[in-house]
Amino acid sequence: MEEQLFAAARAAMAKAHAPYSKFPVGAAILAEDGATYAGANIENLSFPEGWCAETTAISHMVMGGAKRIKAVAVIAEKLALCPPCGGCRQRLAEFSSPDTLVFLCDEAGVQTRMRMDALLPHAFATDVIG
Ligand code: THU
Repeated sequence: MEEQLFAAARAAMAKAHAPYSKFPVGAAILAEDGATYAGANIENLSFPEGWCAETTAISHMVMGGAKRIKAVAVIAEKLALCPPCGGCRQRLAEFSSPDTLVFLCDEAGVQTRMRMDALLPHAFATDVIG
């Protein structure tokens, strides 16, 4: 399962649109339905309008009909390990459980494993909305 998610994240990274940062990132989600949903970062000439690889992967998952993340793998070409940014941690948490697995990868494979509640302790949560 780790190997397959790593391979999907790496393949997604190859599709990054990152002409400005030149910092390709790939992410792959194993969802509750058993399917893998991958994504890359997609930048824009108007810099704030780009978005992260994890966000693309989440979009694919939701549009594929899944809502729960069992595991997510992230890889960046130019960083030994690429922990998801703060915004993506919250976006991932929306669809995760405390025991959702997070795999940080390099070119060789999964190097670091952690749970979602370690990646984002004290996540924003409230029952007064919705
Ligand atoms: N990036 C991601 O795709 N995921 C992260 O978790 C961190 C940053 C992207 C955003 C931008 O396209 C590039 O990396 C440089 O910040």
